[in-house]
Amino acid sequence: MVFPIDKRLAEVLWITAPDVVPQLCDTVRDVPLETWNSTEDLYELADIIEPYLEKHNALKWDFIWTMERHFSEPYGPLPKAKQTFMAGIPDEFLQDVGGLPENAGTYEVGGVSDVSFKRPDDIEVTARPYQYEAGDDMPEEYRAWLSKLFFKHGECMMPYFGEAAKGHKSMFSAIDAFSLEAAPDAESRLRQQNFSAEEYKHTFQFYKLYQEFDPEIPVQIYERERETFRAYEQTAMEKTWMDRGLYNMFADRFGVYQGFQWVQSSYAPLARVSLLVCKDERGHGNMGYLHVRDSLAHEGEEGRKYAQQRIEEYWYPQFMASFGSDDSRNSKMWRKWGLKELSNRQMRDAFHLEMVRVNESLGLDTPDKDEALARGLEMAEAVKARMAGVQAKSA
Ligand SMILES: [Fe+2]
Ligand SMILES: [Fe+2]
Repeated sequence: MVFPIDKRLAEVLWITAPDVVPQLCDTVRDVPLETWNSTEDLYELADIIEPYLEKHNALKWDFIWTMERHFSEPYGPLPKAKQTFMAGIPDEFLQDVGGLPENAGTYEVGGVSDVSFKRPDDIEVTARPYQYEAGDDMPEEYRAWLSKLFFKHGECMMPYFGEAAKGHKSMFSAIDAFSLEAAPDAESRLRQQNFSAEEYKHTFQFYKLYQEFDPEIPVQIYERERETFRAYEQTAMEKTWMDRGLYNMFADRFGVYQGFQWVQSSYAPLARVSLLVCKDERGHGNMGYLHVRDSLAHEGEEGRKYAQQRIEEYWYPQFMASFGSDDSRNSKMWRKWGLKELSNRQMRDAFHLEMVRVNESLGLDTPDKDEALARGLEMAEAVKARMAGVQAKSA
């Protein structure tokens, strides 16, 4: 018998991941090869290696989700992930591309309730998954909506090189510097560095994607992003390690959900990149989770109160609103052209149910969804007004 994943491969892959738990690397190194290969089932293996996990101060649950995140379908030969908030992609988002089980229809999140992943029928979808490649002829309207999607949802890049790059900084540079400095131990600093490397990898992947579509747009997107990012930065994170963790737990999980929408995109290059990016963003959300979990353990009741307050006052409203309005015309048009799958409301509901489970496992409460959304929309209006003020002043 052989376990489907070589244990050396696990160690090599994990150490460069943003959600690495180095104690797990020590554990797999220590487990004898015969023990590792004594079963083909992940959950059985987790039971078998329990003494080694204990010896290295690692949790069985961390072992399971780490294995599933890296090696479960569609990323490796292990069966689909059972952990719904640390690993995996709901079936619905893979049905058209992966040979996975027929439309599961719902995605169960922590037994709270099920979210319907049935595609809304308010609009007829006119493009199929993977229909267009970069150089293909496409309808004018399709091209316009694809371009709009890139401007609205892209990842920050640095489209200047050599001499032209002088004076330009990555938009992440300030927050990266803070994170490396503020990391409370060697393990969290390693995660933060791995995280930065992966985000810079995304800047490469999205730069290539945009450039192949239209060589002019990387610079245009970058310049547009610089304006909006500045406004966003004014309201974002507090400079505490807990808030940094919450930021990743929310923002990168939002990235996961964005990626879900695109893994069956009608624009094939985006679908391919998204499948990879989804996996990475899961890892970034997990990094935030680990850092929040550690902070809560160290900071006791005071830390818990602070986290709860930040979630209620800022993070929850912010991310409920980030999914966009329920009657968004953009969303309809993107769905029409196979560039998104579900409505903003469905995505928000799914995200909310996942967050309920995440918060619960950390001993934190989840705010009311609708109240948070209303507050988030108010916050967004305030940012818009401030931006308009800044632009009027500089005009
Ligand atoms: Fe990213
Ligand atoms: Fe990320």
